[in-house]
Amino acid sequence: MTPEFKAIEEIVRAAGTMAREAYNDPRKPAYSLKGRQDYLTVTDGAVERFVRSEVERRFPGDAVLGEEDGGAVTGARLWIVDPIDGTANFARQIPHFCISLGLMVDGRLEAGAIYAPMHNELFIAQRGKGAWCNGARMQVSTQTALSASSVEIGWSTRMPTETYMGLIQRSMDAGCSVRRAGSGALGLAYVAAGRSEAYAEAHINAWDVAAGLLLVEEAGGRVNDFWAHGGLSQGNAVLATNAALADELGVLTGIALK
Ligand code: IPD
Repeated sequence: MTPEFKAIEEIVRAAGTMAREAYNDPRKPAYSLKGRQDYLTVTDGAVERFVRSEVERRFPGDAVLGEEDGGAVTGARLWIVDPIDGTANFARQIPHFCISLGLMVDGRLEAGAIYAPMHNELFIAQRGKGAWCNGARMQVSTQTALSASSVEIGWSTRMPTETYMGLIQRSMDAGCSVRRAGSGALGLAYVAAGRSEAYAEAHINAWDVAAGLLLVEEAGGRVNDFWAHGGLSQGNAVLATNAALADELGVLTGIALK
């Protein structure tokens, strides 16, 4: 096990404990909106500062890109953190949220971890070695029929309503069951775990998907080249699928897979 792989698990677990304690605090931390339907809590900032300090302490000189405090998108070694993905759920007392942390080396993801503290589930992957949920090897689903598949379609105000409705319409017309649970990172982790056949969103940010993309690839699924055309700094569309339905879902969503 590399020091980075050990560290990534330790950091997301400790960050998850912080988030769980804040979630369970009877005073119920207040939330504000950064924009329309764009939630922020004090816990987002506190968890991100903790993750940054842990990375800087353990790996001096490595760069960190985070949802709340931004950061450089250059550097040979870049840690990409979403301190709380599913912030709207967290703020409204819905336990579907997580901490997501990925390590990119020379532009390629090498390790990723997603921890859902209220479910005590750790999803973790290492490039070329595999992906695990709480220690059990993960494999994407083997479902071959869209009419028996579940896909999650993410939404934000960054894209026009019609784009989101179009994805839903085409998926439902093809026979899929469509969900939106409010955490893109967990949506990807669930594809890796075989709980969904796919996750798609017309625009999402790098911190939401860095760890999850590696989880899906290491669990035998397919993903798009999210990092093309400035995905790291500006975000991009995302599609992650099981292998069996990848070609059909690529056509259906209009998001080209690698
Ligand atoms: C959001 C969630 C949501 C996704 C959005 C993200 P946040 O991140 O992952 O599920 O659809 O695109 O912005 O605000 O909860 O960190």
